Amino acid sequence: MNPKIRAGFLGTGSYLPNKILTNQDMEKIVETSDEWIVTRTGIKERHIAAEGQTTSDMAVEASKQALHSAGLKASDLDLIIVATITPDTPTPATACWVQCKLGASQAAAFDLSAACSGFVYGLTVAKAFVESGMYRRILLIGAEKLTAFVDWKDRGTCVLFGDGAGAALIGPVAEGHHEILSSFMAANGKEAELLKIPGGGCRFPPTAQTVDQRLHTLKMEGKEIFKTAVKVMSEATLEAARRAGLELKDIALIIPHQANLRIIQAIGERLEVPPEKMFVNLDRVGNTSAASVIIALDEAVKGGKIKKGDHLALVAFGAGTTLASGAVRW
Ligand SMILES: CC(C)(COP(=O)(O)OP(=O)(O)OC[C@H]1O[C@@H](n2cnc3c(N)ncnc32)[C@H](O)[C@@H]1OP(=O)(O)O)[C@@H](O)C(=O)NCCC(=O)NCCS
Repeated sequence: MNPKIRAGFLGTGSYLPNKILTNQDMEKIVETSDEWIVTRTGIKERHIAAEGQTTSDMAVEASKQALHSAGLKASDLDLIIVATITPDTPTPATACWVQCKLGASQAAAFDLSAACSGFVYGLTVAKAFVESGMYRRILLIGAEKLTAFVDWKDRGTCVLFGDGAGAALIGPVAEGHHEILSSFMAANGKEAELLKIPGGGCRFPPTAQTVDQRLHTLKMEGKEIFKTAVKVMSEATLEAARRAGLELKDIALIIPHQANLRIIQAIGERLEVPPEKMFVNLDRVGNTSAASVIIALDEAVKGGKIKKGDHLALVAFGAGTTLASGAVRW
């Protein structure tokens, strides 16, 4: 019998655009205040892509770092997955633009649409491809230009989001070496109305009227999303640990989706995990949807927050609603 193939991280990278929009800048755009944004969300600033800079451009920058850290070339890649809800174009997939820009001519390419859970959903997909022996060098990207789809007249949403990209190389690893020990995905379509971009699909194809009605921007029931996020992300963290044969006390760092500091704190309280074990970078980055968890993971790695052999839990929740988690031994 062939030995089991184990999937894990071969490298990571991330990219945030240079331009920063502070809460003071937001005060000039909508009726809000630094104090409101900080106390309700924990966000102080977010990065904004340049005009003309696309989701695939940011994905490529993050991917180059991930390839470098894995010691691989673009021509080594056999699959590119881009988790995004802000694609360069409705079709073709952003992954195809990335494939072209990187020169990864041997790689198959597709997008994954699971909103803020996108990268963590992608972990299950990439893990399954690697363990089946089908692919060995998978570039898994979370990338978003959310500022292109935010309603800049809606103070309840525009202060929350930012742009950026993160990338991971997923492939076969030795047992326990950056290994993805478990992964979990779920969805609840009954909550699909809570968070959506209503227009641009076949339900409301773009017309002058849909533009006037602002149907091409993000709409959110913030309070409902908040309550559900705390409950299901807590449960999914436990599920990832359980599937890996771990207990919560074995987890050195939880890397949650960066939507709101109060959500992260409430999860920590529910799980009785001390604040220092909950990774936070949303004060500087805001909510970057599918890019959020991989940007956070890459920052934690580069910032020396993760030691070899540490157990990590990654967890995310987003529009759909979707939910995903995973446990990793670094
Ligand atoms: C969006 C969110 C920060 C709003 O916080 P909240 O405490 O629920 O606030 P509410 O929406 O109840 O709004 C409270 C008041 O603040 C106001 N308000 C909303 N946004 C504001 C802003 N940016 N600045 C100032 N006031 C604001 C509202 O108009 C409301 O005023 P009113 O009481 O006069 O009607 C919070 O609900 C949240 O983070 N939800 C989850 C969002 C999320 O995670 N989304 C992504 C999921 S993947």
